[in-house]
Amino acid sequence: MSHLEPRPFTVSARGPLRGTVTVPGDKSISHRALMFSALAVGESRIEGLLEGEDVLATAAAMRAMGADVARGDDGVWRVHGVGVGGLLQPQTALDMGNSGTSTRLLMGLVASHAITATFTGDASLSGRPMGRVIEPLSRMGADITASPGGRLPLMVRGMNPAVPIEYSLPVASAQVKSAILLAGLNTPGITRVIEPVSTRDHSERMLRGFGAELSVEDAPQGKIISITGEAELKPQHILVPGDPSSAGFWMVAASIVPGSEILIRNVCMNPTRTGLITALKLMGADVAEIDRRDVGGEAVADLRVRHAPLRAIEVPPELAPSMIDEYPILFVAASFAQGRTVARGAHELRVKESDRIATMRSALEAAGVHTEEFEDGLAIHGSGGEPLAGNAQIASKLDHRIAMSMTVAGLHVRAPVTIDDASPVATSYPDFFHTLDALGTPR
Ligand code: S3P
Repeated sequence: MSHLEPRPFTVSARGPLRGTVTVPGDKSISHRALMFSALAVGESRIEGLLEGEDVLATAAAMRAMGADVARGDDGVWRVHGVGVGGLLQPQTALDMGNSGTSTRLLMGLVASHAITATFTGDASLSGRPMGRVIEPLSRMGADITASPGGRLPLMVRGMNPAVPIEYSLPVASAQVKSAILLAGLNTPGITRVIEPVSTRDHSERMLRGFGAELSVEDAPQGKIISITGEAELKPQHILVPGDPSSAGFWMVAASIVPGSEILIRNVCMNPTRTGLITALKLMGADVAEIDRRDVGGEAVADLRVRHAPLRAIEVPPELAPSMIDEYPILFVAASFAQGRTVARGAHELRVKESDRIATMRSALEAAGVHTEEFEDGLAIHGSGGEPLAGNAQIASKLDHRIAMSMTVAGLHVRAPVTIDDASPVATSYPDFFHTLDALGTPR
């Protein structure tokens, strides 16, 4: 799963980007589709699954715990699940690669099964905090031994039966919420998660679709999500919509390269994921939603994006949960806007695949952008639409979104930009560079 050889990539200015893009399946939904299918009794079919390394790590883990997971020649994934409570003891450590979502959600699953699993990952994942899931899962009875600082490698000894808890999330994290709900699936009684700030709700939607008893109430302290344990999940046919986080790169690319016009098809428009579109529109971006429809319980639309002059904004901090993975590419958009954009309230960026505040600051400064760093965000002085100086070496720090964001920045530069290692792009968007070549040729 980890790459031994870094793969450098050099990007230079391109002419207008034009054409139609179909982005790969949503990463969050793909992970959940595999996990829930693996817990249903019978065969589920998944169409449009993201075949990136992160999701393949989840597929391998579900196989290691007894599910039959296979891709057909037709591109459809078929999963024969073991039933809630039926996960088997994995014989070797579960290699999570770069994937925080696989790790945290699967820790939740293992926590309430009578099995023990060891989780390992690459250097990026091994630096990320797992205390946020260790704490609630330990309260449910799991015995978790982690490396110093609550990090990987770690071992989860599940407890069966586990103890249902009521837990108010101290950080706005869909991964922590989902880990507890997944542990709750095999726990007698009702497990409750209180979410003071709403985060992506794919787990809730999909668990209901699989037949779990799950309710969501609005209360003064936030959303209260209750799941009834010892659930029986029924196999499903899942259509995975396109990933709005992947679409974000093309939205910004078209916005900053003069003369561009791109149609991005089949983008998931779940309101817990559309913060980047809101922010870009506030900046004056020309983004039009076409043919809004429902695909497998999620809103979907095609997006037509044309080049437009961008203006600086104060990014509303309340957008943070709905655009948490899009800050790196938003910072790129801000680098081409007129004026000083300020994005704060995004402290969580410090614990993503890299410290995305520090990594993007160094990357943009290297490419000629003046920035100011805060504990919880960045201020960026934009070029007013002019190309950046470029002529930079960028450290991607094992972070796919840094590699892709800085590639987009490199589309409108005076001198080429080299990403030291573009291999992490394969975790979430294996076709990214092919799509880039199909959209525009170097000038
Ligand atoms: C995800 C939740 C977010 C996001 C990650 C995917 C998920 O993480 O950054 O890429 O699928 O639940 P947090 O829950 O840590 O914010």
